[in-house]
Amino acid sequence: MKDTVRMRTSLKEDLEIALNAQVKMEAESSAKYLAMAAWCDRNGYSNSGDFFFAQADEERGHMLKIFKFICDMGGTAITPDVVGIPQEYPSFRSVFETALEQEIMVSQAINRLVGISRRLDDYATENFLQWFVKEQIEEEYIARRQVELFDVIGEEGIGRFTIDMEIAKVTYPGAAGEAGGE
Ligand code: FEO
Repeated sequence: MKDTVRMRTSLKEDLEIALNAQVKMEAESSAKYLAMAAWCDRNGYSNSGDFFFAQADEERGHMLKIFKFICDMGGTAITPDVVGIPQEYPSFRSVFETALEQEIMVSQAINRLVGISRRLDDYATENFLQWFVKEQIEEEYIARRQVELFDVIGEEGIGRFTIDMEIAKVTYPGAAGEAGGE
């Protein structure tokens, strides 16, 4: 019976498990960014709040993209449980440092997925994942530049107010002329 079930999908079991783990990670990213959006909003950093609201949407888009791919490949996509999302942060800066850490973890997870695809000779999935490899270059770049604003501008006086104004202006230079991310 199990063999018949596997015939309906070209996804190997290891890869299906790893893709579902990535669905969960993207859902957690979305939830974390939503919590960051709320934190920024209630602490007076409304531009950063808007940035994280949009980012939460993007991450949900990433989750859906992988979820749908598993379905399209005839696999079993699993709706993730998302629990234990931090709601409080010790400082404005720590929100952006946490976001950068999250993006680095996602990049590493995507790289591991590409590695599994290659090991299993699953070139369709490897090809699908290239969009995420590219997306992570962009997202890590933006997150890193945003953290750097805290050192470049400084937090004293109107520093944090200025940082909040500058947050949304950080863009990835390689994105010029490309279709926007999801
Ligand atoms: Fe979808 Fe930025 O991780």
